[in-house]
Amino acid sequence: MSGFPAGFLWGAATSAYQVEGSPLADGAGPSNWHVFAHTPGRTHEGQTGDEACDHYRRWRGDVDLMRTLGLGAYRFSISWSRVLPAGTGQVNGPGLDFYDRLVDALLEAGIEPCPTLYHWDLPHALDGRSGWLNPDSAQWFADYAQAVWRRLGDRVGRWATLNEPWVIVDAGYLHGTHAPGRASTHDAPRAAHNLLRAHGTAVRAYRALPAAQRAQGTGTIGIVVNIEPKDAATGREADLAAARRADASMNRYYLDALRLGRYPQELAEIFGADWPGYAADDPAAEFALIGEPIDFLGVNYYTRSVNRHDPEAKPVCASPVPQPGAEYTDLGWEVHPDSLRRVLCWIRERYGEIPLYITENGAAFPDPEPVPGAGPGGRARLADPRRVAYFRSHLAAVREALAQGVDVRGYFAWSLLDNYEWACGYAKRFGLVAVDFATQERTVKDSGWFYRDVIAGGGEIPES
Ligand code: FCB
Repeated sequence: MSGFPAGFLWGAATSAYQVEGSPLADGAGPSNWHVFAHTPGRTHEGQTGDEACDHYRRWRGDVDLMRTLGLGAYRFSISWSRVLPAGTGQVNGPGLDFYDRLVDALLEAGIEPCPTLYHWDLPHALDGRSGWLNPDSAQWFADYAQAVWRRLGDRVGRWATLNEPWVIVDAGYLHGTHAPGRASTHDAPRAAHNLLRAHGTAVRAYRALPAAQRAQGTGTIGIVVNIEPKDAATGREADLAAARRADASMNRYYLDALRLGRYPQELAEIFGADWPGYAADDPAAEFALIGEPIDFLGVNYYTRSVNRHDPEAKPVCASPVPQPGAEYTDLGWEVHPDSLRRVLCWIRERYGEIPLYITENGAAFPDPEPVPGAGPGGRARLADPRRVAYFRSHLAAVREALAQGVDVRGYFAWSLLDNYEWACGYAKRFGLVAVDFATQERTVKDSGWFYRDVIAGGGEIPES
């Protein structure tokens, strides 16, 4: 017995701007990430997603790679500005054609397509209309989703609305390190609220679709959040409070709103005079919209953090404290597998029963060059033992959560491919498959073969 139930979904994930390249091809409009990455000083060495993994043109080969790994599912995202170049209005058929072909190829390969509608790349034209600060953004998003469902809804039965609202808000609106590059305690909570309203508006629109557009009536919809346990560095009240604030701002902010119909009280302290209470005429109706029932919750997990009170780290006033003896990834994230188990158990305890999918989990480590001919079947070999160990320990943590009764239905490794890691550019490598960005050559890493063996064995984790 592997500890993973029959029917458990084994997948890998990517997102549009990180892998596709050709951002303006076939009538697409620019996204805010396109504009942000092309703004001097915003990203590592000025790198952009102009080429990325060239997945927009190499998708056939990439589907073959997924088949080689034995994936049961592929989580990707749809680029809004390919579908609606100006964000609203005219639908761009050729942009949808790309996803249409991809979906058909996946289905033919026996791989379930699991699209996310929004993984951070807002049409630039909508930023010109205040982006997520505009209350109309909720309807823009639902209209875009409907355009996608009209084309793909009959064949795709598992939709996610947003990827990681916390990152969108924290990096994009509070600290300005991601598109659209705003840094404002006034803007951040307003963007968060509109993102949650957008999610709810799209869920409602999905429920109202004709059955034929909901994968023969059985289609499901959920949202993806990133959750990171926030421990306190000491037992001192100031550090405990800092950890609580960090947890409120990242974890409970979104899940409390989605599942409990309220925002955590710490947010008023964090945002001070900028906290809107929240700006709504009818709070009950707003939270009914945000809390519109969903079919599953996607959870992205990478790390935990241990926090101390830090008055300089505004507005949350919590800073992570390095842990002696702990292992850290190339992004400085602590490797802490038991926190994945904790997250899964905490969600059930605090928010009740809901099917969970781990929609991202993985690690960036520096990789060596592939060795020609040294891999399976005469392929090149790339040895990445630390990433293998990361997957091994985190899969064991998922198995633990399952044994404790948590309803986990699937796991998606981040990422299928080395890709454009946002403001960090191409330097940070998360792939099961290495990409040589000069030649676009792909090499399955040892971690990719390891994952293939896990999948082939129904979740049995091979001995090292
Ligand atoms: C997550 C993002 C994903 C990727 C990983 C490393 O926050 O959803 O796009 O950047 O982190």
